Amino acid sequence: MLKASQAGLDRILTLELVRVTERAAVAAARLRGRGDEKAADQVAVDAMRSELNRLPIKGTVVIGEGERDEAPMLYIGEEVGVGEGPEVDIALDPLEGTTICAKNLPNSLAVIAIAERGSLLYAPDVYMEKIAVGPGYPEGVVDLDAPAVENIEALAKAKGVAVNEITACILDRPRHARLIDEVRGTGAAIRLIGDGDVAGVIHTTDPDETGIDIYLGIGGAPEGVLAAAALRCIGGQMQGRLQLNTEEKVARAAKMGISDPTKVYRMDEMAKGDVLFAATGVTDGNLLAGVKFGREQISTHTIVMRSSSQTVREIIARHQDLDKF
Ligand code: FBP
Repeated sequence: MLKASQAGLDRILTLELVRVTERAAVAAARLRGRGDEKAADQVAVDAMRSELNRLPIKGTVVIGEGERDEAPMLYIGEEVGVGEGPEVDIALDPLEGTTICAKNLPNSLAVIAIAERGSLLYAPDVYMEKIAVGPGYPEGVVDLDAPAVENIEALAKAKGVAVNEITACILDRPRHARLIDEVRGTGAAIRLIGDGDVAGVIHTTDPDETGIDIYLGIGGAPEGVLAAAALRCIGGQMQGRLQLNTEEKVARAAKMGISDPTKVYRMDEMAKGDVLFAATGVTDGNLLAGVKFGREQISTHTIVMRSSSQTVREIIARHQDLDKF
């Protein structure tokens, strides 16, 4: 069996991936604002799976909807694709920000990353502490183990602005009360988000557009791997540490090959080698527009990128064949 890099198929797959996230986004968008997270997630999963199964790959889901016994589809270990072609690992979230979609708030996405077999961190569905900044800063400008105050001050210095011109994105959760106080204590601003930290991390890559310079705090580990895959393609820095605070979580992680429960993972340890990443907006957001339903066409906005070339494409597609959706 050919490895992905030998087959050289990844260039073609870049555009193939767009169909996968477009299809999931359109399905979920039909249920925007209906208050039913589960239904929106389910239609996105169904749509993503059926499109994935048309791809010329021998793919394995490594970050998915959950373990086999808790997710009927796109579970970790599920084989997808036509079964011939390059062997790839897949991280996916057919609807990132289920609550956002159900409430029709900004920044829910359909997301996927593909990498050569063994290149993505096999992270259990636990929390991960994360820090991320966009491209253009010296390596190591921020550090997960440094106090928030130091990170904010170092970032402001590297950006050449006053600390009060920095904005941090943090999930609005009680667990972040201290972090929020510390960041506000520096004079920096905070964009508190209700959900959706894959978008939160990606937003650090274009502060002029999004107003966000740094992502801080604890969110899902699967979302952490997806965000790391995105940053590998656009540029930027990210670190993450799994929150393995019970024996049961340590044991689950060990089963997935994680021997050091306190390890800080760099971006290129969460997603290494050649990585492809695609995200389509479900609801309107800072970087991606949501799906628009017209009388005769549906339009979608997707960002798709590849780490080896660092190419970032934005694709606005107008779909006329409405029966396909
Ligand atoms: P879902 O799409 O699974 O609802 O996840 C949304 C999300 O906000 C993620 O972006 C984030 O990483 C995680 O949930 C945070 O988890 P929690 O809501 O438990 O704080």
